[in-house]
Amino acid sequence: MWLMRQAGRYMDTYQAVRKRVSFMELCRTPELACEVTMMPIEQLGVDAAILFSDILVPLEPMGVKVWFDGGPQIAPAVRCAADVDALRFEGVADDVGYVYEAIGLIRKELASREIPLLGFSGSPWTLASYIIEGGTSRNHHELKRLMFTEPEAMHRLLDKLARVVSAYLRRQIEAGVTAVQIFDTWGILLDRPTWEEFSGQYTARIMRELADCNVPIIHFAKGTHLLPAVEALPCDVVSVDWTVDLGALRAQLGAHRGIQGNIDPAVMRAPDAVIEKAALRCLEAHGPGPGHVVNFGHGITPDANVHAARHLVQAVQELGTSFGGVA
Ligand code: CP3
Repeated sequence: MWLMRQAGRYMDTYQAVRKRVSFMELCRTPELACEVTMMPIEQLGVDAAILFSDILVPLEPMGVKVWFDGGPQIAPAVRCAADVDALRFEGVADDVGYVYEAIGLIRKELASREIPLLGFSGSPWTLASYIIEGGTSRNHHELKRLMFTEPEAMHRLLDKLARVVSAYLRRQIEAGVTAVQIFDTWGILLDRPTWEEFSGQYTARIMRELADCNVPIIHFAKGTHLLPAVEALPCDVVSVDWTVDLGALRAQLGAHRGIQGNIDPAVMRAPDAVIEKAALRCLEAHGPGPGHVVNFGHGITPDANVHAARHLVQAVQELGTSFGGVA
């Protein structure tokens, strides 16, 4: 078990680091990224580490500025075919050497413990949403405008992003991550056929390109309506939100692929007894047998606290042994 966004603002130790440096500086400083990556390993006892970085990190060398001011800001936003054509893609993965340096440092820290290290990227579609909207958006009007009015430009953008993501994940694997997760946070904006055209086909291509790396690939998306299409992706683990019935998904997927999820992160605000119940429910929903990576259905929120997160991790680890979990 591990927790999406397990290193973050809900931790005092993370806040202390953030008092000294901006979020992007933190991402760009391998020693600090390593220190923060290790916090949930030490404080929560999770079974996996995830590289501390952000999905927006590889956008900067494509030719935009990325900073955080309340939420993520990207400028200039990409709004038309000419903007798309001006973006760089070749050599972009080579320009974020600090990410691979951080991976090397984290691997050294983890050497004495048998803990996997996950790398990650946004999906091309999710990265497109940020680069077109210029940040997090309420209604994604610009993203959908480009998709519906200039589909060729949109496909050229997604193609560039897919090339960047593919090279970026390969470099992370070469640097030492032992699994990768692709976050399609904004896949949920699309109906299934539109998702297949503008998100799924690009992510599938990346997955096929990484097949020779022989590391597990996890795909994360929210939305039950996408599941039949997500199941068709050539990935090893399907990560789902809390609205999905894990037992039904297990029956659908068969025994040979992993399922990740799917506790509602809002349970972090509840008393310990409710957290234990959520842990048990999640384990029961999947049922006994291997292949269940327990996690939240989306990232932990800043209003969580370390006690609640640790309590959840311990509950899952203890109860999990009766469900085929590895202690
Ligand atoms: O999981 C981990 O511990 C690894 C680190 C990680 C971060 N972001 C750190 C972060 C990972 C895997 C991400 C992924 C990410 N980033 C996604 C996909 C997952 C998801 O949540 O859907 C997305 C969409 C982003 C983009 C992003 N980064 C947003 C929208 C924000 C602002 C919202 C927020 O929660 O503040 C961020 C900032 C961010 N990324 C923080 C952290 C710890 C908070 C920054 C701070 O210290 O102020």
